[in-house]
Amino acid sequence: MRRSIRSLLVATATAALVVPLCGVTAANASPPGFSNADKDALRNQAPADLAIGSAVWGRQQLMSYDPKAPTEYQQVLGAQFSSLTPENDMKWDALRPAPDVYDFESADALVAYAKANHQEVRGHTLLWHSQNPAWVTEASRTWTCDEARTVLEDHIRTVVGHFKGEIYEWDVANEIFQDTWDNGGVKLRTEANPFLKACADDPVGLLADAFQWAHEADPEAVLFLNDYNAEGVNAKTDAYYALSQELLDRGAPLGGFGAQAHLSLQYGFDTSLQENFERFAALGLKVAITEADVRIPLLEGETGPTAEQVATQSDRYDALLEACLNVDACSSFTVWGFPDANSWVPDVFPGEGWATPFEDDFTPKPAFDAMLESLTEATPGTSPRR
Ligand code: XIL
Repeated sequence: MRRSIRSLLVATATAALVVPLCGVTAANASPPGFSNADKDALRNQAPADLAIGSAVWGRQQLMSYDPKAPTEYQQVLGAQFSSLTPENDMKWDALRPAPDVYDFESADALVAYAKANHQEVRGHTLLWHSQNPAWVTEASRTWTCDEARTVLEDHIRTVVGHFKGEIYEWDVANEIFQDTWDNGGVKLRTEANPFLKACADDPVGLLADAFQWAHEADPEAVLFLNDYNAEGVNAKTDAYYALSQELLDRGAPLGGFGAQAHLSLQYGFDTSLQENFERFAALGLKVAITEADVRIPLLEGETGPTAEQVATQSDRYDALLEACLNVDACSSFTVWGFPDANSWVPDVFPGEGWATPFEDDFTPKPAFDAMLESLTEATPGTSPRR
């Protein structure tokens, strides 16, 4: 059961007669220059216990920010979303140019922007096989497990400690399972991930410690596992479910399971998403949609998608959101950037595009309208966001 921030504000204002909105610090409250009454803002229509987020690349978009003269992008980002995920700024290759050097410049700029706009931040990510700096790849060739643990522990304690109190959810471990189609099938990435590789004798022990180090550095942050192809009930999410049980049995402070939700219209939609979320929620975990986008295979010679593709994209975004709204434990719903010009999709999936909820001139797409409507219709509830 969920209650929208707007209904909370109205209730508060009614009780106190006059409440100055500039004093509101709730996560979903609108930033300076925007009205909480803007009914066309996702963040204003969201239930109070559900953050609505976007990925943003701070280095590209937020290095200079003047609240009195925001860029159009910054304006939309602040108006629409109550949560930000650094698209690249908190990855190892951004934060660790050298073993002894931490560079927080763009990540700090992102957190400062989020604060100014009354937004929360999802941390991403602490342990991943991708976007590691060359020095990690090089050094890891000869790492013992102890050496890998020392490097990882220092990183996690330093990074999570740096942002202590600023981050509500951390993707501690990202994409740590292979896929069914990978060599060896669904198993922990003890070859591609340099840390899991060095500790291949007891990778779960390393994961449990990674969660513990993060927890000690910021006890308030909810600590997530996160992956793609992890929406429905499938072999990969079965593996995550078993791992979650094992981590919890070992006393690891695992707090959440994130489904990235990078979808393509090339494939069908797995309607077991809600069932999958419910089983993780039954373990006592939060769940989240962490990186939603819905890419469209663009037809040869066409400049944009067909009307049918546009409608299907809208349905898919909405189905992801509905599953989240239907599960109380779903704490955040994040889209992986906007507008299309900022999307990672065309670079990584040739021939596909138009994946985000906004066109390049910031015109909201039908997908946006569908999500706004679903948020607006979300059932009022009783448990306000923190
Ligand atoms: C992507 C970013 O969007 C790109 O800018 C970058 O070049 C590569 O990574 N899964 C994840 C994200 O967890 O971190 C990835 O982000 C997309 C897939």
